[in-house]
Amino acid sequence: MQNVLLIGGGGYIGSVLAEVLLKAGHTVRLYDRFFFGKNIFKDLEQTGNLTLVQGDNRGAQPDLFKGIDAVMDLAGISNDPACDLDAKITEDVNFRGSSHTAKLAKAAGVPRYIYSSSCSIYGHGSSSSLDESSEMAPVSLYARMKIATEAALRELQDENFSVTMMRNATVYGLSRRMRFDLVINIMTLHAYKNRKIYIVGGGKQWRPLIHVRDVSRAFQAVMEAPREKVAGEAFNVGSNDQNFQVFQVAQMVRDVVPNTDVIVVPDDPDKRTYNVEFSKISRTLDYKTVTSPYEGIVEIKQALERGLVDDVIQTRTVEFYRYLLEAQKVLNEVCLDGKIF
Ligand SMILES: NC(=O)c1ccc[n+]([C@@H]2O[C@H](COP(=O)([O-])OP(=O)(O)OC[C@H]3O[C@@H](n4cnc5c(N)ncnc54)[C@H](O)[C@@H]3O)[C@@H](O)[C@H]2O)c1
Repeated sequence: MQNVLLIGGGGYIGSVLAEVLLKAGHTVRLYDRFFFGKNIFKDLEQTGNLTLVQGDNRGAQPDLFKGIDAVMDLAGISNDPACDLDAKITEDVNFRGSSHTAKLAKAAGVPRYIYSSSCSIYGHGSSSSLDESSEMAPVSLYARMKIATEAALRELQDENFSVTMMRNATVYGLSRRMRFDLVINIMTLHAYKNRKIYIVGGGKQWRPLIHVRDVSRAFQAVMEAPREKVAGEAFNVGSNDQNFQVFQVAQMVRDVVPNTDVIVVPDDPDKRTYNVEFSKISRTLDYKTVTSPYEGIVEIKQALERGLVDDVIQTRTVEFYRYLLEAQKVLNEVCLDGKIF
């Protein structure tokens, strides 16, 4: 049993990961701004093994790391368009915030640090099977911040502080903090609600995919693995049989939600295209994904049918952050001494 600190654990991956770790008998301290709410954790808090701490990664204090065996860092602004809203905030949160928490973890003697990076660092992939040693070709601020943070964390790696980079494929599936801005999730939503699927960026771009529970199991596997297998390593997190072109994803969604039109939106080809090789994680950790995109699509469709999820603004990351930034401007104009009335 380990004491795990999930920074940014209130999000799409973190909330599923917390549940996976709790089920495995670990204790979880979850540190987050809670932009997407705290209520989603009510039942898990009742286990007595989950503690919620509200805070910002840039302002984290040494106390947070006391008694912690492993830190998993998932905090930050989590996609390309949301990062483009304000480059300075993005650099502050995604790069400086993550570097700050890693330094504190090391100073506190936490032995293991696991960072949530992304396959998007391969950007405009130059080959068809990108492995962990392939050239990085970022095409967004989001991806550049992942690369910069990986480099900063590598500097901290030593015999007492093990750092591992998780280069996740694009995630799909249900979560307590649902995201309808990820390719499978959004296509399933549009197919279900409007019987239409929109393809942007041409459709030929490659995207590796992974279910949100599988990504969580990969974080758990790295945490539980012998140090020598993971210290200083980067892992592409996904599986070789889940590299798809976007038009193939649309086809899979149409198989589950029939009588749906696929509409190719006139658009420039997406510069982000990466077909990724995932053998290292399966070879090193004997790790295998267990859920298929088909199962993920069915799971989301059923949740929509049962009214368990809805496409509220919080599920569209860029729209929600834009709304918060606009709301702050309005409040700044009308507030007097910090109060509206
Ligand atoms: N979802 C994917 O497909 C995917 C793929 C590859 C990598 N990732 C990475 O995994 C991580 C988690 O992604 P996600 O899909 O769960 O995104 P998410 O947006 O749902 O979660 C991010 C969490 O970080 C929190 N946060 C934001 N700024 C913070 C700050 N300054 N201090 C503390 N907490 C803060 C948010 O409240 C949110 O709970 C991110 O780093 C993302 O870039 C995600």
